Amino acid sequence: MRVSSPNKHHKTMRIRSLEDYTAAYRKSVDEPERFWADIADTFIWNQKWDKVLDWNFEDYYAKWFIGAKTNITTNCLDRHLLSQPEKTAIIWEPNDPNEPEIRLSYRQLYEKVCAFSNVLKKHGVKKGDRVVLYMPMVPELAIGVLACARIGAIHSVVFAGFSASALSDRINDAQATVVLSSDGNFRGTKDIAVKAIVDEALQSCPSIQKQIVLKRTGAKVEMQQGRDFWWHQELENLTQTDCEAEIMDSEDPLFILYTSGSTGKPKGVVHHIGGYMVYTKYSFENVFQYNEGDIYWCTADIGWITGHSYIVYGPLLAGATTVMFEGVPTFPDAGRFWQVVEKYKISLFYTAPTAIRALQAQGDAWVKKHDLSSLRVLGSVGEPINEEAWQWYYQNVGKNNCPIVDTWWQTETGGIMISPLAGITPTKPTYATLPLPGVQPVLLDGEGKELKGNGVEGNLCIKFPWPSMIRTTYGDHERCQQTYFGMYKGYYFTGDGCRRDPDGYYRILGRVDDVINVSGHRMGTAEVEDAINQHPAVVESAVVGYPHEIKGQGIYAFVICDGEAVAQSSIEQLRKEILQTVTQHIGAIAKPDKIQIVTGLPKTRSGKIMRRILRKIAEGDTSNLGDTTTLLDPAVVDEIKEGAKEFHTA
Ligand code: WTA
Repeated sequence: MRVSSPNKHHKTMRIRSLEDYTAAYRKSVDEPERFWADIADTFIWNQKWDKVLDWNFEDYYAKWFIGAKTNITTNCLDRHLLSQPEKTAIIWEPNDPNEPEIRLSYRQLYEKVCAFSNVLKKHGVKKGDRVVLYMPMVPELAIGVLACARIGAIHSVVFAGFSASALSDRINDAQATVVLSSDGNFRGTKDIAVKAIVDEALQSCPSIQKQIVLKRTGAKVEMQQGRDFWWHQELENLTQTDCEAEIMDSEDPLFILYTSGSTGKPKGVVHHIGGYMVYTKYSFENVFQYNEGDIYWCTADIGWITGHSYIVYGPLLAGATTVMFEGVPTFPDAGRFWQVVEKYKISLFYTAPTAIRALQAQGDAWVKKHDLSSLRVLGSVGEPINEEAWQWYYQNVGKNNCPIVDTWWQTETGGIMISPLAGITPTKPTYATLPLPGVQPVLLDGEGKELKGNGVEGNLCIKFPWPSMIRTTYGDHERCQQTYFGMYKGYYFTGDGCRRDPDGYYRILGRVDDVINVSGHRMGTAEVEDAINQHPAVVESAVVGYPHEIKGQGIYAFVICDGEAVAQSSIEQLRKEILQTVTQHIGAIAKPDKIQIVTGLPKTRSGKIMRRILRKIAEGDTSNLGDTTTLLDPAVVDEIKEGAKEFHTA
C-alpha cells in the first residue's frame, strides 16, 4: 500500500490574524483549486487526486479530490497513534454526575474502533452497506460511527428522540441492513426504553438483518434470536482485534443524515468522504482557533449534523480532546453545563441559543457558582441568536473575555460557512459576520438577481462549491437538484433570509421556506401537518412557526376537525390526542405548543393556504393582515382571529 504522508514542508494553513484571513479568502476565490489542494495536502491519502474539483450547478454535481483514495479514520485515528497515542481523544461525561467519567486516549479509541469494525464485518456489513445508529450519547455511538467509516459502510445516525415510526421511515429509506441500539437511555431523570422503540420500528423494516444492542441502563429487554446481539458479547467473542482501514474513494459516501425540508418526507442528506474530511478539520481549527491543549466541548447530540462535524470528525481529525455529554443542561440542576466546564477546564465551548436562553431564564447564580476561567472561546449554532442571549452569554459565561463565534451553517453544508474566526474577526452581536475561505455567499432578490453592495437583504445563496457540500439526497437525486439548485439557476439556495449590513457583515434572518426552527431543530411544517392529519378526527391542518422566548420558534397548529368529533369530545381531549399522535409519528420534539381548532383555513381561490395570515395571527399581530380580498372566504379570518385570543390573553 502506498500511503502519502502529509506534506511537512508545507507552511501551516492556519489563519492567525485578520491579514491571514483576508489573504486566505482572496486565494480561495482566485485560485480555489490550488487553495484546497494545499489544505488537502496536510492529510493522509493512499493516493492523491487527479483533479481537485469538477462541478456544475445547473445540472447539479460537485466532486472534490477526484481519484484520491483515503479512509477518514486513518486521519482521525492512525495518524495520531504515531504522534500522540496517549492523548485523550474523548472525555465522556455521563448523565448522572455521580457516575465516573470515561476517558479514551487516541490509542484506546483506535483499538475500540478496530474491534467494533470486526464485529460489524462478522455480521456481514460490507463497504457501501447502510448502518443505522439509534443510541444514547455514549462513547460507543462515536465508536460505531467510526467503525462504519473504517470498513466503508455508510452510517446514518437517527436522533434517539425520534419515534419508532420516524425511525422505521429512515431505516426503510436508507435500506439499512444493521441497526445499532442500546437497552435504554438515561436523559435527566428519565430512562428511555430505546430497544423497545427500535423493536417496534423493526416490525416494518424488512431490510434489517441484525441489531447490535449496547447495555447501558440494565433495563430488561427482549432479544430476538438470530437478529439481536449484545454489543459486549460480540466483542468478547472476537478473534481478531485489529482492522485495516478500507481504502475509499474521495467521492464515496461517508454518511446519510436525515433532515427536514418543505415536504413531509425527510430527506437523506449525503456527504462524501474527501471533501467532508478536509472541510470539517479546516473549519474546526480556524473557527475555534483550536490550539494543542484545548479541551473542547460541543453540547450537541451526534444525531444532528453539529455532532457529526464538531463532536466526532472535526475535532478528531485535528487531534483534539472532545467532550461528549450524555445528559441534559438542567439535570441534576441548571448549573450542570457550568459544573462540567469547571470539571474539565473546558476552553472551547459550543452550544445552541435555545440552551443559552433556557439557562439564562434560571438566573445568573448558577453560572456564578462555578469557576469558568478556563473558557477562551464560546460558540453558538442552530438558529439566530438574539441580542439579549448574546449579551448574557458574552458577559456572564465569557466574563467579557471570550469571543463568541456565531456559526451559520446547515446539514447540507457539512461544515461552518459564515462565522467569526475566534479572536480574529471583530464580532457584532447577532451577526454571523463573514464567510469562511472558500465560501462565496450572495443575496438574491425575488427575481433571482444578485444584490450587489452592502446594506441589502435577500435570499442567501452560495455561488461556488465548497468541499463539504451535500452530494445528493439519498435515492432521489432529482429532489436534491430541485430543492437546492432549482430555485435560482446556478446557485445553491440555503432557504435562509439574510442581511448584509453596511460593513459587509452577514446576519441570518431565519428560514424563508416552510421550515421552522424549534430549539435549533429543523422541522418541516408539512411533516408536522402530516403527523397531525393521522388523527382520525382531523380533516386538515396548517402549521406555522411563531416567536418563542426560549425555543426561538414555537409550533402553532390550526386544525380543522370533524364536526361530530368536536361535539363528542372536549377540545382539551382532542388537543391531548393530537399531541399523542404527533409524538407517535415524529417524536416529542415536534409537539405543537398551541393547537387551535378552527372550522376553516384562509385559502386562495386556487386552494393554497395563505400562511402569511396564519403566521401573523400566531404572532398575535392581527392589526394588519395585508390583502385578504383574494381569499375564498374572508370571513374565516375573523373567526380564526377570535379563536386565537385564547392564546394571547394568557
Ligand atoms: C439555522 C445546523 C442563524 C438556519 C448546523 C439554517 C442558523 C438551519 C445558525 C440549519 C446561525 C443554523 N444563525 N441561523 N448561527 N445556524 N441556523 O440543518 O436557518 O439543523 O438553515 O444545521 O439552522 O439547520 P441544521
